[in-house]
Amino acid sequence: MGDVENDVMENEFGVLATWTADAVRVLGPEYAVPAACKGSASPAMLEWLGRTTGLGQGQVLMDVGGGLGGPAEFARGEFGARPVVLEPMVAACRAASELFDLSALAAEGGRLPVADNSADVVWCLGVLCTTPDKSGLIAEIVRVMRPGAQLGLLVFTADEPRPDGAPEGNEFPAEEELPVLLGKHGLEVGRSIAAEELPDHPDQDTWRSRADEVEALVGQMHAGDDRLAQVLDQQRRMGRLIQDQVVRAVLVAANVPNSPN
Ligand SMILES: C[S@@+](CC[C@H](N)C(=O)[O-])C[C@H]1O[C@@H](n2cnc3c(N)ncnc32)[C@H](O)[C@@H]1O
Repeated sequence: MGDVENDVMENEFGVLATWTADAVRVLGPEYAVPAACKGSASPAMLEWLGRTTGLGQGQVLMDVGGGLGGPAEFARGEFGARPVVLEPMVAACRAASELFDLSALAAEGGRLPVADNSADVVWCLGVLCTTPDKSGLIAEIVRVMRPGAQLGLLVFTADEPRPDGAPEGNEFPAEEELPVLLGKHGLEVGRSIAAEELPDHPDQDTWRSRADEVEALVGQMHAGDDRLAQVLDQQRRMGRLIQDQVVRAVLVAANVPNSPN
């Protein structure tokens, strides 16, 4: 990844994490989960992922590229999971730890500082498209999954890796590539669904308006900062591609087969 792309990603996933956490502290704790779900700001998606990956009480959930920890906190609150956030941006790890008191380790997805076979469930939401070495990321995820463990993915897909107007630092996989990529690493693909086909969730509107309020406050607090302008440009580009259905969000569940004995 080039220096410019690195700066853009640092602003979008690092600086913005600190600003988001600051804004949540002003507005109140009920704003934390909606604002801290970046890329998966939808309770319907997280419900589907929790149910489809069989998440349950006390299970170790590793959220790779877990950002500020919103999805991990949702998994703890709704399903009783024991989450660990693994996320390369130190500022995002700090936000996950301060906002939710979550365990958060600064780590690239391709080199996770955790033992083999240690996760019951892994989530990786909105990360594949920002990772050039997709195969290395999946290989590392499989290493930490115990036999029988489940993987839940949210993947932004497109027909070409960089459609016109794509945000910096994103290379979208095609939907058809996903079973091939996962199968290559021994994963069995289970269910998948296009995000737009999910049923409505009763909390969706409240989440959306709380996330919007946090974004608006961040905008006021950092008006005139070039880094904010860059982040907003990234988000606008992604939003347009999703609206035009050039980029499509897909949820996938896959599992490591149980060892034969
Ligand atoms: C769109 S955000 C999604 C954050 C979180 N999963 C969520 O849904 O709220 C993408 C995240 O992937 C992280 N990321 C980017 N490249 C990564 C990599 N190679 N390994 C692990 N995480 C990565 C970013 O720092 C960012 O936090």
